[in-house]
Amino acid sequence: MQKIFITGGCGFIGSHLIKRLITKGYSVKIFDNLHRNAIQYTDLLNNTKVEFVKGDIMDAQHVTDAMQGCDLVIHMAAIAGVSDYYLNPSRTLQVNLIGTFYVLEAVKKNKINRLIDMSSSEVLGTEVIGSDEESYLRIGPPRDKRWSYSVGKLAGEQLIYRYSEELGWKSTIIRLFNIYGPHQVGESAVSNFCSRALKGEDLVIDGVGSSLRSWCYISDFVDAVMCFVEKPNDEVEIFNVGDPWTTISNLHLAKMIITLARDDASVKKKPTITFRPMPFTDIKARYPDVGKMMQTYNWKPEITIEDGVRETYKWFRETFK
Ligand SMILES: NC(=O)c1ccc[n+]([C@@H]2O[C@H](COP(=O)([O-])OP(=O)(O)OC[C@H]3O[C@@H](n4cnc5c(N)ncnc54)[C@H](O)[C@@H]3O)[C@@H](O)[C@H]2O)c1
Repeated sequence: MQKIFITGGCGFIGSHLIKRLITKGYSVKIFDNLHRNAIQYTDLLNNTKVEFVKGDIMDAQHVTDAMQGCDLVIHMAAIAGVSDYYLNPSRTLQVNLIGTFYVLEAVKKNKINRLIDMSSSEVLGTEVIGSDEESYLRIGPPRDKRWSYSVGKLAGEQLIYRYSEELGWKSTIIRLFNIYGPHQVGESAVSNFCSRALKGEDLVIDGVGSSLRSWCYISDFVDAVMCFVEKPNDEVEIFNVGDPWTTISNLHLAKMIITLARDDASVKKKPTITFRPMPFTDIKARYPDVGKMMQTYNWKPEITIEDGVRETYKWFRETFK
């Protein structure tokens, strides 16, 4: 059975993906600097199939040494979360671009020929309305720090294409569209709203709340990643993974979570919704075309937004009560 090297495996997605991988018999080596730590809400680090190396992908030698003996690399270490793009734009660019370069160099030196990379729908820029994998990208001007993340991710995509073509790797680049669920301790509207509602704090809507997002539940996302793990595409390809059937406004999402909190006897002070001027550059609408994923892998997300948000709310309540 394959040994899989996972950068950023201690994060939200890693904590779910690794559970599925070891259930399927794979062994996993995590390389993560614990910038974020979602895996602490699981017992995965005590599992004999999981090895953990504390390390930073900006340390090229360490990541190269740690990767020895692995057959597949899943690269997901990144600085993610809109606040971080504004607070730490240089670090965001460095980790997502130069860090990815170091990971690719490590893959090359270890003579591994399979890579799965977590890119982002952010590379598509400002208007993402049913975009497919061939859509043109429309990124904002460099003076706006928001684009530090997407430029890093996009450069990562280019690097992966070029390395894969030159070295004959089978690589998959996943463009993720708003994945959510339990363990998401980083920034996301679902996790922000759930944690505020449970504390009886108002849910703060940026702008008027009309921005549209599609929400893909974590188990559907992990199903998609398992398709790539078990049936790699030839050469190098990009796939959109998200759930276009759950596209709702941020206000609608906030109202769903307000309703859960109102029906929850453990929430003494019932939250309401307040509005503030948009503090950063917004993306008015973002939902994917996932036709390529459906046709290639017969994959389709199954979890409704109502069920997914309820499960996420429940996890926040049980974990942080
Ligand atoms: N969750 C989403 O909706 C979403 C959307 C688009 C793209 N992505 C991408 O998917 C991947 C995983 O996302 P996530 O939601 O699990 O995020 P996360 O922040 O929970 O996980 C990222 C992990 O990377 C680690 N990390 C950060 N910098 C590092 C470094 N320099 N060296 C080693 N480890 C480092 C963190 O400690 C963390 O465990 C990321 O690449 C992210 O950009 C996620």
